[in-house]
Amino acid sequence: MTKAEYLEAFKKTSQNWCFSFAPGRIEFLGNHLDYNGGTVLGMAVNAGIYCLGVPHSENHHLGISQDQNQFSLFSESFEDSEFVGNLDKIEKQSGKYGWTNYCLGVLQQLQNRELSPKEGFRLIFTSNLPTSVGLSSSAALELATCLTLLQLAEKNLEKKELVTLCREAENHFVGLPCGILDQGTSAFGKKDQLVYIDCKKEEFSNLALPSDTRVWIFNTGIKHDLVDSLYSTRHEECMEVLQRGQKVYPAKEYLTDFTLEELNSLTLPENLKKRGIHVIEEQTRVSLFREGLIKKLNPEKLGKLLADSHVSSSMHFENSCPELDFLSEMLNRHPNVLGARLTGGGFGGAVMAWTQSKFLQDDAESIVQAYAGKFNQTIDWHQFEPSDGAGKENLLDAPPTRLSEMHR
Ligand code: GLA
Repeated sequence: MTKAEYLEAFKKTSQNWCFSFAPGRIEFLGNHLDYNGGTVLGMAVNAGIYCLGVPHSENHHLGISQDQNQFSLFSESFEDSEFVGNLDKIEKQSGKYGWTNYCLGVLQQLQNRELSPKEGFRLIFTSNLPTSVGLSSSAALELATCLTLLQLAEKNLEKKELVTLCREAENHFVGLPCGILDQGTSAFGKKDQLVYIDCKKEEFSNLALPSDTRVWIFNTGIKHDLVDSLYSTRHEECMEVLQRGQKVYPAKEYLTDFTLEELNSLTLPENLKKRGIHVIEEQTRVSLFREGLIKKLNPEKLGKLLADSHVSSSMHFENSCPELDFLSEMLNRHPNVLGARLTGGGFGGAVMAWTQSKFLQDDAESIVQAYAGKFNQTIDWHQFEPSDGAGKENLLDAPPTRLSEMHR
């Protein structure tokens, strides 16, 4: 068979298959502002999760049961954990099936809106996103699932609704009170640009980065066992500051609506006061950064806002750790780094660094060596480009991973 004949045959076999991609994201600036009604800056990266959907009617190719309501979820990243479920009974999973909750939550939200496939299907996931780096593979999994299921159901959703639906899946089904940063960035990413999100109005736009800049991730590999519960605790603390503040300032809707003076006028326990200071000052940093980018100010000046953000997360929001502090300090001291900070929920995870092209792989290696000297551990780094957001994909353009091999 020639390559052209093969492609023709493959096109025929796969004509009813659906395929989507959703990128991971880097939180560029705006730590823990999204659920506090603030504005945040995210960057979609050039790596993510691909999802192939095969409709029920074609499952026999794959030797799958003919039960109309049966569906299955398989990910290359979790080898022995193919999940088989029933459309009439979507239930939260644990243990080796824990990863499927992001997909099941999306399926349930689609069912609530009568947008889900009426018959069973098979979803197959593959990823070129480094795992456990804090690039929000969970949001990418939600969006890739959602886009593929919508295609299978022959339905459509506006991008903004897609973001809302996926966030609701995470809040209500997975049970994490996250904001809209991850899903919003993965959906609205654009090449060479940041995603600017007004979380109060749920409005999304893009903002060009200066040319000649790069974004790096240094991953400590530390995943705090309690990371989800610590995130929820920070969320609760912010809500408590808001509620206490609203007793004095009833018109305020979100914590980011307060000024520092107003916060200081409240009688608050030390920890709550610190959370409030972080949120209010971080909001100012995002606004200054955005204005600075629009006015094309010197990137070195703007980078300082990233460094300040880290210090505030560490001192006031207390979601850093010695390893993240060390990386951030080393990177912020480096002459070719514009700014560096912890990115995402915190309590472990990664530091992002915004650099000019003068910062090279050797520089990244020297940071890794310094880290090894201090913590006796080798960590990994990655460099990413600001990239386009989630969308339908052409299966014939699938990346050369095992997913595509399975079908060739
Ligand atoms: C995680 C959450 C986001 C956001 C960040 C912190 O990534 O999923 O919604 O709250 O933490 O800014």
